[in-house]
Amino acid sequence: MPVTTCVFDAYGTLFDVAAAARIAAEQPGQEHLAKVWPRLAADWRTKQLQYTWLRAVTGEHIPFWQVTQDGLDWAMEASGLDDPVLRETLLALYWELPAYPEVPEMLKALKDNGYSTAILSNGSPDMLDGAVDFADIRALLDAVLSVEDVGIFKPAAKVYDMVGTRFGTTPEQVLFVSSNGWDAAAAAGYGFQTVWVNRAGEPQDRLAARPGHVLSDLSTVPELAKAL
Ligand code: LAC
Repeated sequence: MPVTTCVFDAYGTLFDVAAAARIAAEQPGQEHLAKVWPRLAADWRTKQLQYTWLRAVTGEHIPFWQVTQDGLDWAMEASGLDDPVLRETLLALYWELPAYPEVPEMLKALKDNGYSTAILSNGSPDMLDGAVDFADIRALLDAVLSVEDVGIFKPAAKVYDMVGTRFGTTPEQVLFVSSNGWDAAAAAGYGFQTVWVNRAGEPQDRLAARPGHVLSDLSTVPELAKAL
C-alpha cells in the first residue's frame, strides 16, 4: 500500500539536540564547558531518554520539559558543572535547537509530492512549537503531535496510534522517520514503514523489530517515500 503520510521524530531527527551544549561552550567564560561539552551533551540526551522509558514503564508520566531538566541536572553534576546561570542558558538554547540543514527542502519536496507531513514527538507542545517556529517549518507540517495528548512516552503503542487517529491512515500508509534506533524499531514493530536515520553510523539496536530502511541523513526521504 503506498505511503500517504510521512511522520518525523523531533529531537535528534529534525533538530540537533547536541547544539545546546555546543553553542553554550562557544560563549565567553565557558572554558570548562568547552572541554566537557561533548560528554555533557551525550549524558544529557542519554539520561533524558532513560527517564522517559522509566517513567513510561512505571506509569509516572511527567512532561518532557521536566524530564529534559532532570536529565540536564544529572549531566551537569556528572561533568562537575555547578552553575545555575549556565543551566538556564542551556535550557533556553533547547527551545531554539537548529534544524539539520536538509530539513526545510526535504519537507518541501514531500509537500510538493502530495504527502501529509507531521512530527510525532515526546516533546511537550510548547517546546515543539518553539523548535518548529525557530526552524521556520510550520507551513511545511500538517500536524505537530505530542505525547502529552496520551500521557505516556514512546515507544508505547498509544503514541504511534496518534497518527492513525489524526490522519485516518492504516500503519502501512505511514512512513515513520527517526534517528533514534529504538524509536524506528518500535515503530516498525507497530506496523509503520520506517526509516532509521543513522547519522553517527551506530550499530542497530537489538530489539523485537528492525527498521525497514536506514539512511545517513534526511535528504533522500522524499525519493524513498515515492519508491514505497
Ligand atoms: C522525540 C525524542 C524521542 O522527539 O527524540 O520524541
